[in-house]
Amino acid sequence: MPILYNDLEKEFHLQAKDSSYIFKVMKNKQLGHLYYGKKIRHRDSFSHLYRIQQRASASCVYEGDLEFSLDYLKQEFPSYGTTDYREPAYQILQENGSRITNFEYKEHNIYQGKPKLDGLPATYVEQDEEAVTLEISLYDELIQSEIKLFYTIYEHLNVITRSTNFLNHSHENLNLKRALSTSIDFFDSNFEMVQLSGSWARERHVKTRKLQVGIQSISSTRGTSSSQQNPFIALKRPDASEHQGEVYGFSFVYSGNFLAQVEVDHYDVTRVMMGINPFDFNWLLEKGQHFQTPEVVMVYSDKGLNGMSQTYHNLYRTRLAKGKWRDKERPVLINNWEGTYFDFNEEKILEIAKASKDLGIELFVLDDGWFGERDDDTTSLGDWVVDKRKLPDGITGLAKKINELGLDFGLWFEPEMVSKVSKLYKEHPDWIIHVDNRRQSHGRNQYVLDFSRKEIVNHIYEMMAKILRDGPVSYVKWDMNRYITEIGSQGLPAERQSEVIHRYILGLYSLYERLTTEFPNVLFESCASGGCRFDPGMLYYAPQAWTSDDTDAIERLKIQYGTSFVYPLSSIGAHVSAVPNHQVGRNTSLDTRGNVAYFGTYGYELDVTDMLEEEKEKVKNQIIFYKENRKLIQNGIFYRLQSPFEDGGNLTSWMVVSEDQKEIIIGHYRVLVRPNPDFSRLILKGLNKDYEYEINGLKGTFYGDELMTVGLQLKNEFSGVESTGNYSFGDFNSQIFKLTLAKP
Ligand code: DGJ
Repeated sequence: MPILYNDLEKEFHLQAKDSSYIFKVMKNKQLGHLYYGKKIRHRDSFSHLYRIQQRASASCVYEGDLEFSLDYLKQEFPSYGTTDYREPAYQILQENGSRITNFEYKEHNIYQGKPKLDGLPATYVEQDEEAVTLEISLYDELIQSEIKLFYTIYEHLNVITRSTNFLNHSHENLNLKRALSTSIDFFDSNFEMVQLSGSWARERHVKTRKLQVGIQSISSTRGTSSSQQNPFIALKRPDASEHQGEVYGFSFVYSGNFLAQVEVDHYDVTRVMMGINPFDFNWLLEKGQHFQTPEVVMVYSDKGLNGMSQTYHNLYRTRLAKGKWRDKERPVLINNWEGTYFDFNEEKILEIAKASKDLGIELFVLDDGWFGERDDDTTSLGDWVVDKRKLPDGITGLAKKINELGLDFGLWFEPEMVSKVSKLYKEHPDWIIHVDNRRQSHGRNQYVLDFSRKEIVNHIYEMMAKILRDGPVSYVKWDMNRYITEIGSQGLPAERQSEVIHRYILGLYSLYERLTTEFPNVLFESCASGGCRFDPGMLYYAPQAWTSDDTDAIERLKIQYGTSFVYPLSSIGAHVSAVPNHQVGRNTSLDTRGNVAYFGTYGYELDVTDMLEEEKEKVKNQIIFYKENRKLIQNGIFYRLQSPFEDGGNLTSWMVVSEDQKEIIIGHYRVLVRPNPDFSRLILKGLNKDYEYEINGLKGTFYGDELMTVGLQLKNEFSGVESTGNYSFGDFNSQIFKLTLAKP
């Protein structure tokens, strides 16, 4: 797992598991990029990849030298204004008004392990031997400032992480107008860009477009990573598919405004950049200060999109998520939100909890409406004190009663928000993010607390910690239900107002850090109106996330399929809810609702006391199935087989395979029934070709090689002849197959 440095050529060669990343110090002492892709053998010199040639109309760096132009040189961390006309990785405004810089290679350091990022979530190692880090220092003499580039490669993964630290050692103040985390120039532009886009209730739909000359980008300006765009893009070769071909993934470990930009220039060079969105951003870097950017995780796959996803799943499940719950089987939960909304009291909650216990559920989660006087969404956010009208014995009293029933107890918070009808707002009207003398826009009647101010974060910490200390609370659902507007802070001077939104995210991270540290046994689940902040930054603190407020099984196929591009099943919160579904009004069977929700961290979100006896029996069996298989589902290797975004979206299937390939679960879903169709089959992946498998519900045994080539023969759909009997019928149908090794 080496990072090789060739002093003669001043070349760096990062060799991850099956990928190579090569760059060098150029004539101007800046860093030039040479190659990123499939692993190639090391050699004494890669100077032939450093292509330089006189070009008409290029601006050149040195007098008398008509060759050296940054206009066509591929670079590692480019700046604007010195012959490169593409958008840069950073821009620093100096006191004299200049934005021109010259950061030259000064030194580097290669060491085992991976340093922590100051105040930011990031991937980590448990043993230094797991990874190697290259730290490169670039220095600008004129402004006595330094840029440190960090690269880490993991021993067993095709991962390269990158982040950047800007350090001001001078006597003047600098303004960072742009401070991205990574930049990389590819040889050509023969790529498609894949992104996960959507909106509330239809998050992370897969969109693909061919790269064009010019800039194409996705971004967030909403104060969270957003459901509109997830902080992720992939570049794939046009012939790459789910399971073969070259794909490069870029995932940003950050929960706020971001930019993921791809610029194809006039030589078809493709520049990919990722970082904090420079739009509406500026950071005053006073002398002696430094600014650490969040981390970008780059993944190379020559096994298609699925290969990329498996690498992200592996890394994010084991070396991004942290804490006690990282490796633990997650409890089957019931959440009362869709069951009662705001309309509950202790009696009702205990009724639901008791019925849930009988079904095999392990954790009861009390959602919104337990505090202040919150009977609807117009009041009480910020007053994290129990509403005794509804819960006379308080949270502790209720939680104990639920524990006595044999269930753990979990609680909903929305820590970042305040309602104007609340004690908190009355006492501290200036605590919301706002701009003086300007209108204060709201979202869902609520306002955003200014988490860029430490005293506000402290106040919320104390309120939450008191409830968690009093306990017994073993789970927290951390919600966030609006995007941010009129961004301004009373706590910062005029020249720092463009820092507010990043400082807000740092404040949020600090609150998460303190709470997860003080309450290591509590399982945190993040949420933002469902999946409006489903990102790697959140995953660092909360190992699971509420994926979407849309609980309809058919809508969930697309949402969970798209989410799985980056995020492991152990992070994908998925619940069975009532029908007609509350978001789209669709009726689907309890089977299908369960069959979709199994592929995540499983739960129920309905009033189980309202269910028929036969439904309860079914739920009991679903829970038995999930408990038996959750280890496999949460930790297994995930394969997407049929995409809801292709071929009209009628069929979706996916499967999860245990590491030893001895246990497999397949989910197969059909939206609309087709009369008298062809004989369908499903080509499986990831099995051991020599293993002989049994499949639940099917006679006989099957070898892995047959299942991965000829495929699994599926039940027929209705062919017009009733008497054959053996067909699956009706819309919104689904099947689960469990494969185990055949008994000898
Ligand atoms: C939005 C969440 O996504 C829902 O699950 C629920 O917790 C509501 N907020 C409560 O207000």
